[in-house]
Amino acid sequence: MSETTLIADTLPRAVEWENGELFLLDQTQLPQATVMEKQETAEQVWDSIRVLKVRGAPAIGVAGAYGLCVAMKDKTNLSLDEFIAEMDKQAAYLDSSRPTAVNLGWGLRRMVRVAKASGADSAESLFKVLVDEAVAIHEEDKKLCRGMGDNGAPLIREGMGILTHCNAGSLATSELGTATAPMYVAHSKGVNFRVYADETRPLLQGARLTSWELQKSGIDVTLITDNMAAHIMSQGLIDMVIVGTDRVAANGDVANKIGTMGVAILAKHFGIPFYVACPSSTIDMEMPSGAGIPIEEREDDEVTNFGARRTAPEGIKVRNPAFDVTPNEMVAGLITEKGIVTAPYTENLKKLFGGHND
Ligand code: MRU
Repeated sequence: MSETTLIADTLPRAVEWENGELFLLDQTQLPQATVMEKQETAEQVWDSIRVLKVRGAPAIGVAGAYGLCVAMKDKTNLSLDEFIAEMDKQAAYLDSSRPTAVNLGWGLRRMVRVAKASGADSAESLFKVLVDEAVAIHEEDKKLCRGMGDNGAPLIREGMGILTHCNAGSLATSELGTATAPMYVAHSKGVNFRVYADETRPLLQGARLTSWELQKSGIDVTLITDNMAAHIMSQGLIDMVIVGTDRVAANGDVANKIGTMGVAILAKHFGIPFYVACPSSTIDMEMPSGAGIPIEEREDDEVTNFGARRTAPEGIKVRNPAFDVTPNEMVAGLITEKGIVTAPYTENLKKLFGGHND
């Protein structure tokens, strides 16, 4: 990739580790306020992930890894065995904050595995291993974004219209985003294109986050409500869909923000290619198909209320699944840091990622 500074480099970071302290951008306050919140305890990190102060699969993977450092920083006076037992407990606790994005468990398992294999002979030196590994996961995530950007950018041609859903942007990762990485790279090369951002009910990640970061970056972005996508497609305004993902199964089924499968079905109807940007940290080679991916169910009030205002009758029955699974046959390609993977996914993912994603 060219050395040009991409505008996304100048956006506020979702996760920062500075002088041994963890700061998370409170995304629930965007776009009105940009507030970095210091994380003092494991419970605070758990809550920040749960309430979506930090969100997006890669960002919660990085936040979870640093969260384990926050959890263990005042435990270095323990014996080595006690430290390891506590580390296992805290990793499982942090992993329980959200179930669907595989990056969270992936990052935490990697932290624990590397720490145990390090041969460190004291709690203090084991803690240093944890910090180094969290920093490594963070730095790698930036490279994964760049790789997806370089591999996906050639798909974007002058004058195209691109639809995206939820926020798979800079705010959901350590740098350029996943779905937005090809957009940022193409934009830096002077390619002109239009992005349509679905608002993404119920929590409005598209309206609050994607439209904010693309607008700030000088990319031509238009906000639509979710139920406008079919109409906009029928008008010939969309040439390609690019979304992110929380977990891709070994057969290429894709879990992503609720509503994504509907977008894929519409894209198929209108003959529009549906791409998924996906770093290797989001591929779960242990999960044979999307049927086994745990789908997070969230609180009713996210559906019964619009912001602070109640919009549904008291006592109404509600469902609030936060993700859905798009069948692999609807996916034109998975844009990864190693290249664009196409069908047959089981075979081709295995070839590229060798049976596991560690
Ligand atoms: O509930 P969220 O906001 O964490 O959901 C995020 C998404 O669905 C993103 O599309 C996905 O995590 C990919 S982020 C690069």
